[in-house]
Amino acid sequence: MNRKLFVTTALPYANGPFHIGHVMEYIQADTWVRLQRMLGHEVHFVCADDAHGAPIMIAAEKAGQTPQDFVAGVAAGRKPYLDGFHIAFDHWHSTDAPENHALAQDIYRALRANGLIDQRPVEQFFDPQKGMFLPDRFIKGECPNCGAKDQYGDNCENCGAVYAPTDLLNPVSALTGATPVLKTSEHFFFKLSDPRCVAFLDEWTQDGRLQPEVANKVREWFKRKPDENGDGQASLADWDISRDAPYFGIEIPDAPGKYFYVWLDAPVGYLAALKAWLDKIGVDFDGYLADPAVEQVHFIGKDIVTFHTLFWPAMLKFSGRKTPDRIYVHGHLTVSGTKMSKSRGTGISPLRYLELGLDADWLRYYMAAKLNARVEDLDFNPEDFVARVNSDLVGKFINIASRAAGFLSKRFRCRLSSDLGVEGRALLDGLRAHGESVRNHLDEREFGKALREVMLLADRVNAYVDQHKPWELAKRPDMDAALHDVCSVCIEAFRVLMVYLKPVLPALALKVEAFLQIQPLQWADAQRSLGAHTIGEYGHLMQRVDPAKLAALFELPAGGEAPAAVAQSSTPAMGPSGTPAMGPGGEAIATEITITDFAKVDLRIARIVAAQAVQGSKKLLCLTLDVGEGLDARGQPRHRNVFSGIAAHYTPEQLVGKLTVMVANLAPRKMKFGISEGMVLAASHADEKAEPGVFVLEPFAGAEPGLRVR
Ligand code: 2FM
Ligand code: ZN
Repeated sequence: MNRKLFVTTALPYANGPFHIGHVMEYIQADTWVRLQRMLGHEVHFVCADDAHGAPIMIAAEKAGQTPQDFVAGVAAGRKPYLDGFHIAFDHWHSTDAPENHALAQDIYRALRANGLIDQRPVEQFFDPQKGMFLPDRFIKGECPNCGAKDQYGDNCENCGAVYAPTDLLNPVSALTGATPVLKTSEHFFFKLSDPRCVAFLDEWTQDGRLQPEVANKVREWFKRKPDENGDGQASLADWDISRDAPYFGIEIPDAPGKYFYVWLDAPVGYLAALKAWLDKIGVDFDGYLADPAVEQVHFIGKDIVTFHTLFWPAMLKFSGRKTPDRIYVHGHLTVSGTKMSKSRGTGISPLRYLELGLDADWLRYYMAAKLNARVEDLDFNPEDFVARVNSDLVGKFINIASRAAGFLSKRFRCRLSSDLGVEGRALLDGLRAHGESVRNHLDEREFGKALREVMLLADRVNAYVDQHKPWELAKRPDMDAALHDVCSVCIEAFRVLMVYLKPVLPALALKVEAFLQIQPLQWADAQRSLGAHTIGEYGHLMQRVDPAKLAALFELPAGGEAPAAVAQSSTPAMGPSGTPAMGPGGEAIATEITITDFAKVDLRIARIVAAQAVQGSKKLLCLTLDVGEGLDARGQPRHRNVFSGIAAHYTPEQLVGKLTVMVANLAPRKMKFGISEGMVLAASHADEKAEPGVFVLEPFAGAEPGLRVR
């Protein structure tokens, strides 16, 4: 049966560019959506900027812009991220769009008609200089619990205490520095305490639609007075949904000067985005949502569960609308174990990732490999990233195609065999038998499990290649048919596994479809055979990650904000605004590592046995290094070929015969001029062109090739 899915991700505040945490959520949802589409289901996948609220209004004022212009500017910057990471939303909207104003007001009117809106006075801090009520985040003072100075109005960063802004000692307005005064104004409340709401939510949150750990957490929010059965009657507190002018938001009907609190109209933005999209493609919005087959699915982070499991379903239910079918909650992203800040992100800029030429599909693969259906945090660890992409994705999967394609092109004019042999057919049947299990894992958002299963299948294919040794078959003219079968099996296997990986790796799938000369892969294609089909010439499908490039992602861009991983380390000296001060040699000492981290780098003494200029490169010298690795299969001394960017500093003659230090366990790197099998160590200023220059390391006399440097 075909599913009808309305899918969203949380609406990001329109107060700045995306951080890597946003991208993670979009990758998770996009992967899931791509699977559903490959299965033939109908999906409308939308998102929008969360445009309203006092912080955005204040940020706009600081920028000298109207809030509308300010959020439009932020919205204009979204596309490179979404395109760059292949996030295929059907539509991107804004909560300040007319659809959202109308829908939020309609929902409010319906709630009011249902007797669920209340009005009562609230006493709050008011900045007399600015003439506005202050949001909690804009009041600072001393913590009532530990006395720490300069704490926000909602909680203390020093002792963790949670309190009301009115509890702060010596409060000041963070906007003007004025002492805020207490002032009373009329606020509107959504009566969540109404027994109808409580009974509905008690049932709705526990009927199996939420992840078990989320349902358990939500249960704790219902206060229960024990009765004689020990069950107890649940209760919930009312929700303050209004803010006073000046405010950037949606006006509350029949209440001049009152606006909806941003969190009232933000989730309504899901519907507004859907409406705008359906209008665009000519589908009736009300009719679509009235269809009982439609499933409404929201992907969100764990910090906004209350809004999505209490307020939002109750707003929908009691305004006579469809409620969400699934709320898929994910954990937060940490970087090398460092927590992300909501406003600053992690310090890894998604745009810088793309600008450095890092492949978006690597990040999608890495994140998918670490994602599951639970509310667990995900750690981005650069070494782990390199290992998973290089060893698994490229080393196991891409390798299958590259091992077979050359023979097919040279010997069989790119035409696949339709026989494939008994073993080949059995291998392919085995891969196909896993289709359902991989699909279920992906559908259940157990992406890590799905990828582990696919990599085990890739291991099977590689074992088949190792067993049948096409490179040896190729030497025997009587083995032509066998060679043809083995290589064709590889391509078929590669295609089947590409189907399983396509939701995660859309850009790679496009390249593979072009290489195989096939239509866009659908899930069912894994169960079919290509037969005697002609494929294209093999071109490079995916590079390995260059760890140096990845490391550049963590470097402080000139004048940029300190990456959290660096700024929060205790090692570097800190400059005035928490950024690392310029350190010796033009850069701060790197983040602390353990001896185990260091031991992973295998440094060896190497003799430079030859050195030569590289034609076409002013920067590189090609070095031949003896690292004491004995003889190769032909009885020749085994040497390493290393390209080193030192041509501007040394002539080949200055180097030949010298001993130096090299990184001997660096993954080989394919460069324009050949493969580089390591790296020679040299000292320089952060700016290599600056004085005093670049200096290749040389050990004290007596050292020999192969000795380890530790
Ligand atoms: O926490 C946030 O970033 C909010 N802007 C999320 C809103 S999600 C939805 F309700 F709009
Ligand atoms: Zn405190």
